[in-house]
Amino acid sequence: MSNYLILILLSFFMLISIAAGTQFKVGGSNGWSVPDTNAMSYSQWAAKNRFKIGDSLLFVYLPDEDSVLLVNADAYNSCNTSSFVDFFNDGNTVFTFTRSSHFYFISGKKDYCHKNEKLVVVVMADRSNRSSLAPAPLPASASPPPPPYGGEVEEPTAQPSPNGASSRVIGMVSTIGAVLGALPYVF
Ligand SMILES: *[C@@H]1O[C@H](CO)[C@@H](O)[C@H](O)[C@H]1NC(C)=O
Ligand SMILES: *[C@@H]1O[C@H](CO)[C@@H](O)[C@H](O)[C@H]1NC(C)=O
Repeated sequence: MSNYLILILLSFFMLISIAAGTQFKVGGSNGWSVPDTNAMSYSQWAAKNRFKIGDSLLFVYLPDEDSVLLVNADAYNSCNTSSFVDFFNDGNTVFTFTRSSHFYFISGKKDYCHKNEKLVVVVMADRSNRSSLAPAPLPASASPPPPPYGGEVEEPTAQPSPNGASSRVIGMVSTIGAVLGALPYVF
């Protein structure tokens, strides 16, 4: 391997490291599950955090018992598990935000969804532009309770909460994985 190649690899690695986002574990230590009745809802938790492009959500659950559906606002509100945009049931789902938008996740089990195992995440266009932090209004069809965004999204607080993961894991491990995965194509 020439020094030149090593240099290219190193630059590549550094570039990806900078671009790597924060990983948020949904549900904290409980993982993706029906929240306790007195715990903060997933969407309340999400509203306390600030998500940007490149950040990711980690859903941990038993693949036999649960799954994650990416849905539209209508399916989110009605817990319609038969209409989804994407479907994950691997038990360890990492969903990376590649654009700014509202992302609606529900449990693949209708019953669990009705028990509030559902989550809306608003991904901001640019974290440096504070005026753009106010979330876009939900589509008119999404009339049921919008999560309480207090205008501006707060920095994640250090307070641990039963249902809210504050774990901010830099996506370093996945970055290394990505680089190693790319190696066979480089050589
Ligand atoms: C779920 O969504 C699909 C597609 O939009 C629709 O055809 C179906 O009637 C919906 N089911 C329920 C129970 O609302
Ligand atoms: C910041 O946000 C405002 C309002 O959304 C927009 O008009 C402006 O172009 C943005 N600036 C940058 C640098 O993105």
